[in-house]
Amino acid sequence: MVEGPHRRTPDQLRSRLWFDNPDNPGMTALYLERYLNYGLTREELQGKKPIIGIAQTGSDLSPCNRHHLELAKRVREGITAAGGIAFEFPCHPIQETGKRPTACLDRNLSYLSLVEVLYGYPLDGVVLLTGCDKTTPACLMAAATVNLPAISMNVGPMLNGWYHGERTGSGTVIWKARERHAAGEIDYEQFMDIVASSAPSDGHCNTMGTASTMNALAEALGMSLPGSAAIPAPYRERGQMAYETGKRIVEMVWEDLKPSDIMTREAFENVIVANAAIGGSTNAPIHINAIAKHIGVPLTCDDWEKIGFEIPLLVNMQPAGAYLGEEYYRAGGLPAVIAELIAAGKIHERAPTCAGATIGDNCRGKFTWDREVIRPYDKPLKEKAGFLNLKGTLFDSAIMKTSVISKEFQDRYLSNPSDPNAFEGRVVVFDGPEDYHHRIDDASLNIDERTILIMRGAGPIGYPGAAEVVNMQPPSVLIKRGVFALPCIGDGRQSGTSGSPSILNASPEAAAGGGLALLQTGDRIRIDLNKRSADILISDEELRRRRADLEAKGGYPYPASQTPWQEIQRSMVDQLSEGMTLKPAMKFQRVAQT
Ligand code: FES
Ligand code: MG
Repeated sequence: MVEGPHRRTPDQLRSRLWFDNPDNPGMTALYLERYLNYGLTREELQGKKPIIGIAQTGSDLSPCNRHHLELAKRVREGITAAGGIAFEFPCHPIQETGKRPTACLDRNLSYLSLVEVLYGYPLDGVVLLTGCDKTTPACLMAAATVNLPAISMNVGPMLNGWYHGERTGSGTVIWKARERHAAGEIDYEQFMDIVASSAPSDGHCNTMGTASTMNALAEALGMSLPGSAAIPAPYRERGQMAYETGKRIVEMVWEDLKPSDIMTREAFENVIVANAAIGGSTNAPIHINAIAKHIGVPLTCDDWEKIGFEIPLLVNMQPAGAYLGEEYYRAGGLPAVIAELIAAGKIHERAPTCAGATIGDNCRGKFTWDREVIRPYDKPLKEKAGFLNLKGTLFDSAIMKTSVISKEFQDRYLSNPSDPNAFEGRVVVFDGPEDYHHRIDDASLNIDERTILIMRGAGPIGYPGAAEVVNMQPPSVLIKRGVFALPCIGDGRQSGTSGSPSILNASPEAAAGGGLALLQTGDRIRIDLNKRSADILISDEELRRRRADLEAKGGYPYPASQTPWQEIQRSMVDQLSEGMTLKPAMKFQRVAQT
């Protein structure tokens, strides 16, 4: 049994400071009267019932999470059935496919605003309605900072997409269709039809992109009810899980079971293991490291390599595999994956969860019946599915998912028998995504099948929020010759729905003085996966000269901010390896108790 340190009595409810505080009748009356005005009674507000926030991330601006407008009704019914009172409120929208310049810009803004709401209003606990990529980390980061009893519930993936008898997965199909479009195989109309087919219902991306990843990891962390993350949005089980989630948060308030009781170092280590086994997104280290920082658990990109790299890929889901969210759910979802990992001795079974039991008790023996979709640990889809953390003169940290390296790539770059894990190449450098789009087909760049493409100016400062642009498509002449991928390195991010073997999240970014800022088109670089190194092959003296030149120019140039928030965030944001958190926020921990 997992509980917080003390059982709470009705007199110890936090909301009583607002609604029933005889020491301050003036303020109590003021708080009370306006919450009575829509029909709540004094008996409800002063009746010593937990007041539970429902953090609503769905709206017309957030199609991935929009189904939460319906699900929140079931959450509310669960809260009421368990003796609580539900207060639903809106969160700042973060729609991955709608927000410019990039949705990730708003993760920290949504985090900040949710912290203010959770701290400043009469809430005893909160249900976090998560889904689209950044909504999940933003909510969990805020829950960590405030440390009120909290439980997250995913909106669930869309149903499978289909086009002409083939599964079309969100995002992943775009990367494939854009290659076919560039190769002249399909026209504009077919391009649009294929991509639209991948979004057949309510819900978030149906691939193992960042949304499926982050919600699976919220469950692995212990912050969502077991089995909840993978339920497709339109399935009846999703509404039932909403009801159970509402019921459970009320109990968590009485148990005083808070994020700090659940998000322990062991739980984060479980998350890293789970991420490799599901084939999770390269965005996960950024967001998980951020959540860990806000709850005060040390976690680094070295931990991701040390704990996760050797773990095999068990889930056969796009982009790394073949299937989509419906098959994954029917095969057992995350509990079936954790059961495999437990049997292999890779999970800290005693890590607590919001369900009130340990992750071991929740998942042990819940093996899948469909071994095509969730593989046994000893017959995985791929070995070593975790991330490498590379370092060198190019950057202090960058993530690489080696399990997605294709046979073709391997033959071209890694086929030196004396050193099969190292490759060298000439680089072509792009300054941001616009520069790439303008120049990629420029013949004078001499891009061939052994060129390495560099994307810089795409980190948290250079392209505020860090753009998902590192997986660059080769020039169309190469695509027409059948070369669909070149190695890409960059200080930006890559979509979780892309299977490219890029080296990304490079920190520090060019705009923060990282080594990428010193590169010039035509330079050669060397990547050695055994040594985890990434270096510029030019002399130290030349590097020093370039560094001095860059500093004399005032550093790597980047475009001006277009909004106040872009400017504010740029002035105080950490690098991707550090979770892209806001530096001044770090001194605020567990604020609900202070
Ligand atoms: Fe929202 Fe993928 S775009 S989940
Ligand atoms: Mg994305």
